[in-house]
Amino acid sequence: MSDNPISQEAADAAVAAALAAFAAAGSVAELKAARTEHAGDASAIARLNALMRAVPKDEKAATGKLMGQARGRIEGACREREAELVEQEAAERLVAETVDVTAAPARRGAGTRHPLAQLQEEAADIFVGMGWEVAEGPEIEHEWFNFDALGFDPDHPARAMQDTFFVHPADRHLILRTHTSPVQIRALLDRELPVYVVAPGRVYRTDELDATHTPVFQQIEGLAIDRGLTMAHLRGTLEHFARQMFGEEAKIRLRPNFFPFTEPSAEMDVWQPNAKGGARWVEWGGCGMVDPRVLLAAGIDPAEHQGFAFGMGIERTLQFRHDLGDMRDMVEGDVRFNRQFGGLV
Ligand code: FA5
Ligand code: MG
Repeated sequence: MSDNPISQEAADAAVAAALAAFAAAGSVAELKAARTEHAGDASAIARLNALMRAVPKDEKAATGKLMGQARGRIEGACREREAELVEQEAAERLVAETVDVTAAPARRGAGTRHPLAQLQEEAADIFVGMGWEVAEGPEIEHEWFNFDALGFDPDHPARAMQDTFFVHPADRHLILRTHTSPVQIRALLDRELPVYVVAPGRVYRTDELDATHTPVFQQIEGLAIDRGLTMAHLRGTLEHFARQMFGEEAKIRLRPNFFPFTEPSAEMDVWQPNAKGGARWVEWGGCGMVDPRVLLAAGIDPAEHQGFAFGMGIERTLQFRHDLGDMRDMVEGDVRFNRQFGGLV
């Protein structure tokens, strides 16, 4: 019996266990764990090696050689397996990351502007084409521009809480404009005569959202002030606009109405031959000859200059033009609505 604590069998067993673990490792990460277990400080081979001190002197050389070979086999096997696994993982990555340059790309919408925005622009362009200019005003407007300067009495029902959004605090007299007509006043104060302007823009009313109303909508305002303008010019302009918007067969009708800033005033209807439930006249906007009081408020002599104004709803225009049953579809933001108007959405 030898008193050598390191046996050939123990060394072989440690090597065999290490080799089996390395072979079983399926990834570089698993191999790293196996290496710690079978070649690290707490491994069987390391513990065996620690017994070298107790090996009898005359067996030290042979046992040292035995241990050196055992550790060499473990280290070598580990390096070989690592090389295999690195190569295997690289090959797998190449397959996984292959780009098929011939594949059809996923269809990705470039986006398009909302049909209402497009229509608003198209409507303004019709007037720009006739030499008119585009004018603007703020959406948060002073009551004076929205009402007083346009001849609304202080107790006019349109000012009442159920129509107008007031901006807090009320004593600042700021509101969300209820129509684009205040831009008439701004244009008259800003510009030299003659004035031919259109003012497309967003307006706000406390209306319920339903098939033909929304609380936030758009109007396009028109204002022409020159010498000798008459109702005939108004009618001709509106007919031209209607034909451009709805086609050559478009018909309009003026019905007497009242606005405090026009005299005479009219409501304008368009003929909708394909309306659901049969052909009918539908209200498109309001218009009239600019009231002399408005001209005077803007420092213009009504004996010298006259003019006409009109204001149409853009949502209604889109609705009539495309026979859309429900205005709510325009404002709810469902992309399927936009797709009907073409463009890649
Ligand atoms: C006006 O707003 C006047 N400023 C029009 C005007 C301008 C008259 C210049 C004379 C001279 P009215 O309140 O009728 O008028 O509104 C005009 C149009 O806006 C309506 O015919 C309709 O097309 C549209 N409209 C009104 N309320 C709504 C709403 N809640 N939702 C969508 N469109 C609306
Ligand atoms: Mg009206």
